[in-house]
Amino acid sequence: MKNTGGTTEQKRRAGEHAADLVEDGMVVGLGTGSTAAHAIRAIGRAVDAGLDVRGIPTSFQSRQLALDCDIPLTSLDAVDRVDIAIDGADQVDGFALVKGGGAAHAREKVVDAAADRFVVVADPSKVVDGLDYPVPVEVLPDARPTVAEAIRGLGGEPSLRAAERKDGPVVTDNGNVVLDCDFGTVDEPGALAPALSTVPGVVEHGLFVGLADEIHVGTDDGVDVTTRSD
Ligand code: A5P
Repeated sequence: MKNTGGTTEQKRRAGEHAADLVEDGMVVGLGTGSTAAHAIRAIGRAVDAGLDVRGIPTSFQSRQLALDCDIPLTSLDAVDRVDIAIDGADQVDGFALVKGGGAAHAREKVVDAAADRFVVVADPSKVVDGLDYPVPVEVLPDARPTVAEAIRGLGGEPSLRAAERKDGPVVTDNGNVVLDCDFGTVDEPGALAPALSTVPGVVEHGLFVGLADEIHVGTDDGVDVTTRSD
C-alpha cells in the first residue's frame, strides 16, 4: 500500500540533495522506495567518480539497486557505526513518520535508528498535519489473529496486505505478513508506537517517532530542509 503522490522531479531533488551529504569513508544506510532510489543512484554515480563509501541496504530492492550501481555493500555486524541513513517515508508530520508502504520498515528502522544522522527524503504530498496513513505492522504469520485483536484494542482496524500478481498476502523480506492498521488520525504517535511494539507477535511497525534528524522535501524548484534542534 503506497502513497503515490508527488512527482519524479520532486523525489529526485530530495534524493540527490541528501546524497550530497555523503562523504568519503562513510557507511551509508540505503533506504527503500522510489525517493530513496534517487539517492542510491546519485551515490552510485559518486562512487563511479571515486567516492569511497560502503552501503547497508534496508531491503531486497535497495540491495539490488545498490548492486546495479556498483556501491560496495556491508552489513551492521561488520561496521562500528553507520554515519548516515537516507530513507523515504509515506507520511511526515514534523519528525514523526509513517513508513512501510513497501513493507520494508523493519529493516529500515534498524538501520535508520543505528545511523548517526537519519535523513528523510520526501515530496510535498507526504507532508501532513496529523498522521492518518494506515500504520503498517509486520507480524509473525502465526500471530496474525492475536495481533489483529490487540490492534483493535488499541483503536485500529487491521487489514492483511494482499499481494499483487500472487494469490494471498504480501510476504516481507523477513518472511512475515503485514497488517495495515487504520487508526484514523494518530493523535499521539509517541504513545501508540511503544504500545504497538509491546504486542507479542509484532516484528516491527511503521511509526518512526523521534528517529529522524532531518527532513528533505523536494519541491518544484528546490529542496526544503528541516533539521531537528534537540
Ligand atoms: C518502504 O517500506 C517504505 O518505508 C518507503 O520508504 C516508503 O514507502 C517511501 O517510498 P516512496 O519514496 O516510494 O514513496
